[in-house]
Order: sequence, then structure tokens, then C-alpha cells
Amino acid sequence: RTLRIGLIPGDGIGKEVIPAGRRILEALPASLKLKFEFVDLKAGFETFEQTGVALPDKTVETLKNECDGALFGAVSSPSKAVKGYSSPIVALRKRLDLYANVRPVKSVMTATNPIDMVIVRENTEDLYVKEERTYAAEDGSKIAEAIKRISEKASFRIATMAGEIALRRQKIRDSGAASIHQSPMVTITHKSNVLSQTDGLFRSTAREALANPRFASVGVEEQIVDSMVYKLFRQPETYDVIVAPNLYGDILSDGAAALVGSLGLVPSANVGEGFAIGEPCHGSAPDIMGKNIANPIATLRSVALMLEFLNEETAAAKIYAAVDGNLEEGKLLSPDLGGKATTTEVVEDILRRL
Ligand code: NAI
Ligand code: MG
Repeated sequence: RTLRIGLIPGDGIGKEVIPAGRRILEALPASLKLKFEFVDLKAGFETFEQTGVALPDKTVETLKNECDGALFGAVSSPSKAVKGYSSPIVALRKRLDLYANVRPVKSVMTATNPIDMVIVRENTEDLYVKEERTYAAEDGSKIAEAIKRISEKASFRIATMAGEIALRRQKIRDSGAASIHQSPMVTITHKSNVLSQTDGLFRSTAREALANPRFASVGVEEQIVDSMVYKLFRQPETYDVIVAPNLYGDILSDGAAALVGSLGLVPSANVGEGFAIGEPCHGSAPDIMGKNIANPIATLRSVALMLEFLNEETAAAKIYAAVDGNLEEGKLLSPDLGGKATTTEVVEDILRRL
């Protein structure tokens, strides 16, 4: 099988970590019978400064018509609003209907408090439909309000994806991968005790989706989002798959990333029907760019995650294992993890293990 992968480095350290992602795909063992073709594509603030658009149509069309998947580095957003500029990754998620944001958060197995969870965040609606308005109250003071939109369709498909991810994680465990979990579990996150209509619909629809007999082996529980945050920090080891509406998912996933020590470790994928973009969770990190010290692991794990969604689980498992090997040995770590290794040295150590 030949997979065509779009490469969008973007800005800052995106330009240093995306080439590492390409290298690991090229280094996968020949026995997997997987070949890759790469297409270099543009997006980001630098692209905006050069061409006046942050996300060229050509990038979107090429991804749509020619690619099986893509890797996205990071983009810089100016701290002051710049006329005509808006985030290309947000636009890309919309234009390709990448309705799920999937973020695995995993510590190494040897850690004292091992963590191995994945947060599945709905990515198209909730408060992020951005339908806001500001108006004047009777006394002239301002009132601002925003629409929180939850649909049965979007809730159903995100919960179904969470169920499928839970099954796939179990399959990977059954094939011998070390894990702290014995059986698959999905936790539905909401606040339906207060928002009985919106979060209530999310909750009941997610329950219905996960009641499908296909998910008979998947345990389902639910948790109110505030107590969830408490438990997430106190007992992170108890979570396997978490499914949440957009806003709660955004907050929980950044919070969970803090549990494993560095943003440089945490991958994500933006997933739609038959397409996935792997994206490290970190930004363009201007403070360390150009120094060859960015941690490439978030990107390498994002490559593996993209492969999972392209049904190449064996290849994905090999990359995860090589990364875990590097972290467990702990000899060649980048500075964000307290080590002295350069980006290149970390990548080469992981390629050797692969
Ligand atoms: P950031 O994630 O770029 O950096 C935060 C801190 O983490 C910095 O000290 C950085 O050096 C460190 N860090 C991040 N990734 C690392 C890695 N791979 N290895 C080692 N250290 C790493 O977030 P910040 O500083 O808030 O934003 C910088 C720029 O990135 C801004 O323009 C922001 O808008 C953009 N950004 C873009 C995102 C995206 O493309 N999805 C996400 C977050 C921020
Ligand atoms: Mg966020």
C-alpha cells in the first residue's frame, strides 16, 4: 500500500519537527509493505506574510484530492489581531470536516503514576460555533452572550468514534502491548445537572451510541465535568477513553497534557471520515526555534496516531514502542525533559530502536 501524506510544517519549531515525522515514516521496516509519498504544503503566519493568505486553497485542494493523511506542525498567531489573518488549523478542520480531535496522554510505563488515556473531543460545535453578540442592558451597561449548540448527529458520531478507539486500544493491548488498563472503558463528560438540554442531549445521545452491540465489551460511565477535573488530577490512571463536547474537551485535554511533564510529548489527531491530520499539541515555540532542541516526540507520536486512523495499527505500534524505549531508557532526552540531547539525537535514537 502506498500512502500519500501532505506535510505542513507551518512556523517556528514546526519546521524542525515535521521533517522528523517524515524521517520516521521513511524508516518503517520494509516487512510492513508500506510506502509513502510526500507532498510539501504551505500554511501559517509566514505564508500569510508572503502571500496574504494563511491557508492557501491549493493546500486544502491537495489534501482533499490527493492525500490519504497529513502532518501539521504548528503555526504562530500574532499577539495583536492582524487584519485578514485567522488560524489555518481551525479553518482546515472546518473545510475538511475533521470533526474529532483525539489526544492520547501517556506516561512511560515505569513512571510512579502511570497514565494512559485518550481524550476524544467533539470539534465542530458547542460554544465554538462562535455565535456571540453584545448588547446594552436597560441601564446601558453591556451584556454579552454566546450560543452553545449541541446536535444529536455530532454527539452520536463523536461517541461512536470514542467507542471505536476504545476497541482499537484493547486490540493493541491484546496483541501484547504493555498497559495499565485491563478492559476498555469510555467516560462520557458533561454538565447535564445544570445544562439539561444541551449537555443532556450530549449525554443521552452518547449513551445511545455506545449501547450499540458492537461496543458490548466496552464499559461506559459518565462524569460531571467539574468533578472529572478533580479525579483527572487525583487518579489519572483510572481513565482509558474520555469523550467530551468541544469546550470541556479543550480544557480537559490541555489539563491532562500537564500530567505528563512536557508539551513536547503530547500528540493529537484531527479526524474525519477517512482522513486524519497528525498534529503535535504544542505551538511554534519561538523561544527555542532554530536551536535544534525541540522535542520531536509529540510529532512522532502524532505520526503513529495518524497511521492508526489510516488502519495501519502495526506500523503505529512500532513507532509507539520505539518512542517508549527512548523515554524508558532516558539517556537521550531533550532539554524540556531535563536532558541534553538535540532534536537530531533524539530522532536518531528512536530510528535506531525502530
Ligand atoms: P508553545 O506550545 O509554542 O510553547 C510553550 C512552551 O513550551 C515554550 O516554553 C516552548 O519552548 C515549550 N515547548 C513547546 N513545544 C516544545 C517542544 N516540542 N519541545 C520543547 N519545548 C517545547 O506555546 P506558546 O508559547 O503559548 O505559543 C507560541 C506560538 O505558538 C504562538 O504564536 C501561539 O499562537 C502558537 N500556538 C500554536 C498552536 C498550534 O499551531 N496548534 C498551539 C499553541 C500555540
Ligand atoms: Mg487547546
